[in-house]
Amino acid sequence: MPGSIYKCLSLIGERIIANKDYLTELDREIGDSDHGINMARGFKAVLEKVNPDESDIGAALKKAGMTLLSTVGGASGPLYGTAYMEAGKILAGKTEIDSQDMKAVFEASIAGIQKRGKAVRGEKTMLDAIIPASETYAKKISEGADMIHALDAAIESAHEGVEYTKTIIATKGRASYLGERSIGHQDPGATSATLMLEAICDYLKGK
Ligand SMILES: Nc1ncnc2c1ncn2[C@@H]1O[C@H](COP(=O)(O)OP(=O)(O)OP(=O)(O)O)[C@@H](O)[C@H]1O
Ligand SMILES: [Mg+2]
Repeated sequence: MPGSIYKCLSLIGERIIANKDYLTELDREIGDSDHGINMARGFKAVLEKVNPDESDIGAALKKAGMTLLSTVGGASGPLYGTAYMEAGKILAGKTEIDSQDMKAVFEASIAGIQKRGKAVRGEKTMLDAIIPASETYAKKISEGADMIHALDAAIESAHEGVEYTKTIIATKGRASYLGERSIGHQDPGATSATLMLEAICDYLKGK
Protein backbone atom coordinates (compact mmCIF):
# COMPACT_ATOMS: atom_id res chain seq x y z
CA MET A 1 0.00 0.00 0.00
CA PRO A 2 1.49 3.37 -0.95
CA GLY A 3 2.29 6.00 1.68
CA SER A 4 1.10 5.87 5.25
CA ILE A 5 -1.99 6.02 7.38
CA TYR A 6 -1.36 9.74 7.81
CA LYS A 7 -1.52 10.17 4.04
CA CYS A 8 -4.84 8.31 4.00
CA LEU A 9 -6.24 10.51 6.80
CA SER A 10 -4.96 13.59 4.92
CA LEU A 11 -6.88 12.60 1.81
CA ILE A 12 -10.04 12.04 3.88
CA GLY A 13 -9.54 15.39 5.63
CA GLU A 14 -8.85 17.28 2.40
CA ARG A 15 -11.98 15.85 0.80
CA ILE A 16 -14.16 16.69 3.80
CA ILE A 17 -12.70 20.20 4.04
CA ALA A 18 -13.16 20.75 0.27
CA ASN A 19 -16.84 19.77 0.69
CA LYS A 20 -17.43 21.78 3.85
CA ASP A 21 -19.94 24.18 2.26
CA TYR A 22 -21.72 21.40 0.37
CA LEU A 23 -22.20 19.32 3.54
CA THR A 24 -23.31 22.35 5.49
CA GLU A 25 -25.82 23.27 2.77
CA LEU A 26 -27.30 19.75 2.90
CA ASP A 27 -27.60 20.06 6.68
CA ARG A 28 -29.22 23.50 6.28
CA GLU A 29 -32.11 21.82 4.47
CA ILE A 30 -32.90 19.19 7.10
CA GLY A 31 -30.77 20.00 10.13
CA ASP A 32 -29.00 22.93 11.69
CA SER A 33 -26.44 23.91 9.03
CA ASP A 34 -23.40 22.61 10.85
CA HIS A 35 -22.39 19.23 9.42
CA GLY A 36 -19.67 20.52 7.07
CA ILE A 37 -18.41 22.99 9.66
CA ASN A 38 -18.32 20.26 12.34
CA MET A 39 -16.57 17.74 10.12
CA ALA A 40 -14.03 20.19 8.68
CA ARG A 41 -13.11 21.34 12.20
CA GLY A 42 -12.76 17.70 13.28
CA PHE A 43 -10.49 16.65 10.44
CA LYS A 44 -8.34 19.75 10.76
CA ALA A 45 -7.77 18.69 14.38
CA VAL A 46 -7.12 15.07 13.33
CA LEU A 47 -4.35 16.19 10.98
CA GLU A 48 -2.82 18.25 13.78
CA LYS A 49 -3.03 15.51 16.42
CA VAL A 50 -2.05 12.36 14.53
CA ASN A 51 1.68 11.89 14.23
CA PRO A 52 2.55 12.01 10.48
CA ASP A 53 5.20 9.33 11.10
CA GLU A 54 2.84 6.91 12.89
CA SER A 55 3.23 3.46 11.35
CA ASP A 56 0.72 1.65 13.59
CA ILE A 57 -2.52 2.06 11.66
CA GLY A 58 -4.61 1.13 14.68
CA ALA A 59 -2.93 3.71 16.89
CA ALA A 60 -3.45 6.44 14.28
CA LEU A 61 -7.13 5.57 13.86
CA LYS A 62 -7.65 5.47 17.61
CA LYS A 63 -6.14 8.94 17.91
CA ALA A 64 -8.25 10.14 14.97
CA GLY A 65 -11.40 8.72 16.58
CA MET A 66 -10.70 10.33 19.94
CA THR A 67 -10.04 13.64 18.19
CA LEU A 68 -13.27 13.45 16.16
CA LEU A 69 -15.16 12.59 19.32
CA SER A 70 -13.86 15.65 21.13
CA THR A 71 -13.91 18.20 18.29
CA VAL A 72 -16.78 17.46 15.86
CA GLY A 73 -19.65 17.64 18.33
CA GLY A 74 -23.32 17.16 17.39
CA ALA A 75 -24.58 13.71 16.51
CA SER A 76 -21.92 12.90 13.98
CA GLY A 77 -18.89 13.53 16.25
CA PRO A 78 -19.53 10.66 18.67
CA LEU A 79 -20.70 8.43 15.81
CA TYR A 80 -17.70 8.94 13.53
CA GLY A 81 -15.40 9.03 16.57
CA THR A 82 -16.66 5.61 17.61
CA ALA A 83 -16.37 4.28 14.06
CA TYR A 84 -12.72 5.32 13.80
CA MET A 85 -11.90 3.98 17.26
CA GLU A 86 -13.52 0.63 16.49
CA ALA A 87 -11.58 0.48 13.22
CA GLY A 88 -8.45 1.29 15.24
CA LYS A 89 -9.08 -1.68 17.53
CA ILE A 90 -9.34 -4.03 14.54
CA LEU A 91 -6.09 -2.68 13.08
CA ALA A 92 -4.07 -2.34 16.31
CA GLY A 93 -0.39 -3.01 15.65
CA LYS A 94 -0.82 -3.37 11.89
CA THR A 95 1.34 -1.42 9.46
CA GLU A 96 -0.57 -2.53 6.36
CA ILE A 97 -4.00 -3.95 5.69
CA ASP A 98 -5.42 -6.62 3.41
CA SER A 99 -8.89 -7.06 1.96
CA GLN A 100 -10.14 -9.06 4.95
CA ASP A 101 -8.95 -6.36 7.36
CA MET A 102 -10.93 -3.84 5.36
CA LYS A 103 -14.04 -6.03 5.61
CA ALA A 104 -13.58 -6.22 9.38
CA VAL A 105 -13.13 -2.44 9.53
CA PHE A 106 -16.43 -1.86 7.73
CA GLU A 107 -18.25 -4.24 10.04
CA ALA A 108 -16.72 -2.97 13.27
CA SER A 109 -17.38 0.67 12.30
CA ILE A 110 -21.02 -0.07 11.57
CA ALA A 111 -21.40 -1.99 14.83
CA GLY A 112 -19.90 0.98 16.72
CA ILE A 113 -22.17 3.51 15.01
CA GLN A 114 -25.22 1.37 15.73
CA LYS A 115 -24.28 0.71 19.33
CA ARG A 116 -23.91 4.42 19.94
CA GLY A 117 -26.69 5.83 17.74
CA LYS A 118 -29.27 3.03 17.85
CA ALA A 119 -30.18 3.54 14.20
CA VAL A 120 -30.86 0.90 11.59
CA ARG A 121 -30.82 1.07 7.81
CA GLY A 122 -33.62 3.15 6.32
CA GLU A 123 -33.67 5.95 8.91
CA LYS A 124 -31.92 8.47 6.64
CA THR A 125 -28.50 8.47 8.27
CA MET A 126 -24.86 7.78 7.43
CA LEU A 127 -25.72 4.08 7.80
CA ASP A 128 -27.74 4.21 4.57
CA ALA A 129 -24.46 4.75 2.72
CA ILE A 130 -22.11 2.68 4.90
CA ILE A 131 -24.17 -0.51 5.28
CA PRO A 132 -24.80 -1.06 1.53
CA ALA A 133 -21.15 -0.19 0.86
CA SER A 134 -20.03 -2.77 3.41
CA GLU A 135 -22.33 -5.44 1.98
CA THR A 136 -21.13 -4.83 -1.57
CA TYR A 137 -17.53 -4.84 -0.43
CA ALA A 138 -17.96 -8.21 1.34
CA LYS A 139 -19.74 -9.69 -1.69
CA LYS A 140 -17.04 -8.56 -4.12
CA ILE A 141 -14.26 -9.89 -1.90
CA SER A 142 -16.03 -13.25 -1.57
CA GLU A 143 -16.23 -13.35 -5.37
CA GLY A 144 -12.47 -12.89 -5.57
CA ALA A 145 -12.19 -9.15 -6.28
CA ASP A 146 -9.18 -7.27 -4.95
CA MET A 147 -9.51 -4.52 -2.35
CA ILE A 148 -9.55 -1.62 -4.85
CA HIS A 149 -12.16 -3.15 -7.16
CA ALA A 150 -14.30 -4.17 -4.21
CA LEU A 151 -14.05 -0.65 -2.79
CA ASP A 152 -14.94 0.90 -6.16
CA ALA A 153 -18.11 -1.20 -6.20
CA ALA A 154 -18.77 -0.35 -2.55
CA ILE A 155 -18.59 3.36 -3.37
CA GLU A 156 -21.20 2.90 -6.10
CA SER A 157 -23.47 1.30 -3.51
CA ALA A 158 -22.77 4.18 -1.12
CA HIS A 159 -23.83 6.66 -3.82
CA GLU A 160 -27.03 4.68 -4.38
CA GLY A 161 -27.55 4.81 -0.62
CA VAL A 162 -27.16 8.58 -0.66
CA GLU A 163 -29.77 8.81 -3.44
CA TYR A 164 -32.04 6.53 -1.43
CA THR A 165 -31.86 8.92 1.56
CA LYS A 166 -33.71 11.50 -0.60
CA THR A 167 -36.73 9.20 -0.80
CA ILE A 168 -37.21 8.39 2.89
CA ILE A 169 -38.32 10.07 6.10
CA ALA A 170 -35.69 10.81 8.75
CA THR A 171 -36.43 9.05 12.02
CA LYS A 172 -33.15 9.76 13.82
CA GLY A 173 -31.33 12.97 14.68
CA ARG A 174 -32.43 16.53 14.12
CA ALA A 175 -33.81 15.80 10.64
CA SER A 176 -36.49 13.60 12.24
CA TYR A 177 -38.17 16.77 13.60
CA LEU A 178 -39.20 17.50 10.00
CA GLY A 179 -41.09 14.22 9.57
CA GLU A 180 -42.44 13.95 6.02
CA ARG A 181 -40.86 17.27 5.08
CA SER A 182 -37.49 15.52 5.22
CA ILE A 183 -38.41 13.63 2.05
CA GLY A 184 -36.65 15.01 -1.03
CA HIS A 185 -33.54 15.98 0.90
CA GLN A 186 -30.21 14.16 0.88
CA ASP A 187 -28.74 13.11 4.20
CA PRO A 188 -25.55 15.02 5.07
CA GLY A 189 -24.03 12.15 7.07
CA ALA A 190 -24.57 9.61 4.28
CA THR A 191 -22.85 12.12 2.01
CA SER A 192 -19.83 12.65 4.28
CA ALA A 193 -19.45 8.89 4.76
CA THR A 194 -19.33 8.43 0.98
CA LEU A 195 -16.70 11.16 0.64
CA MET A 196 -14.56 9.29 3.19
CA LEU A 197 -14.82 6.03 1.25
CA GLU A 198 -13.83 7.83 -1.94
CA ALA A 199 -10.76 9.27 -0.22
CA ILE A 200 -9.74 5.84 1.13
CA CYS A 201 -10.06 4.40 -2.37
CA ASP A 202 -7.99 7.25 -3.84
CA TYR A 203 -5.35 6.50 -1.23
CA LEU A 204 -5.26 2.80 -2.16
CA LYS A 205 -4.95 3.77 -5.82
CA GLY A 206 -1.94 5.91 -4.93
CA LYS A 207 -3.58 9.17 -5.97
N1 LIG B 1 -28.60 7.93 15.49
C1 LIG B 1 -27.87 8.14 14.40
N2 LIG B 1 -27.20 7.11 13.81
C2 LIG B 1 -26.44 7.31 12.70
N3 LIG B 1 -26.27 8.51 12.12
C3 LIG B 1 -26.91 9.57 12.66
C4 LIG B 1 -27.74 9.45 13.81
N4 LIG B 1 -28.22 10.68 14.12
C5 LIG B 1 -27.72 11.53 13.19
N5 LIG B 1 -26.92 10.87 12.33
C6 LIG B 1 -26.15 11.42 11.23
O1 LIG B 1 -25.58 12.64 11.63
C7 LIG B 1 -25.75 13.60 10.61
C8 LIG B 1 -25.84 15.01 11.21
O2 LIG B 1 -24.60 15.33 11.75
P1 LIG B 1 -24.28 16.79 12.35
O3 LIG B 1 -22.80 16.91 12.39
O4 LIG B 1 -25.03 17.81 11.59
O5 LIG B 1 -24.76 16.69 13.83
P2 LIG B 1 -26.07 17.32 14.50
O6 LIG B 1 -26.38 18.63 13.89
O7 LIG B 1 -26.04 17.25 15.97
O8 LIG B 1 -26.97 16.16 14.07
P3 LIG B 1 -28.49 16.06 14.13
O9 LIG B 1 -28.95 17.37 13.57
O10 LIG B 1 -28.85 14.89 13.24
O11 LIG B 1 -28.81 15.82 15.56
C9 LIG B 1 -27.03 13.18 9.91
O12 LIG B 1 -27.03 13.59 8.56
C10 LIG B 1 -27.02 11.66 10.03
O13 LIG B 1 -26.40 11.04 8.91
MG1 LIG C 1 -26.34 19.33 12.04
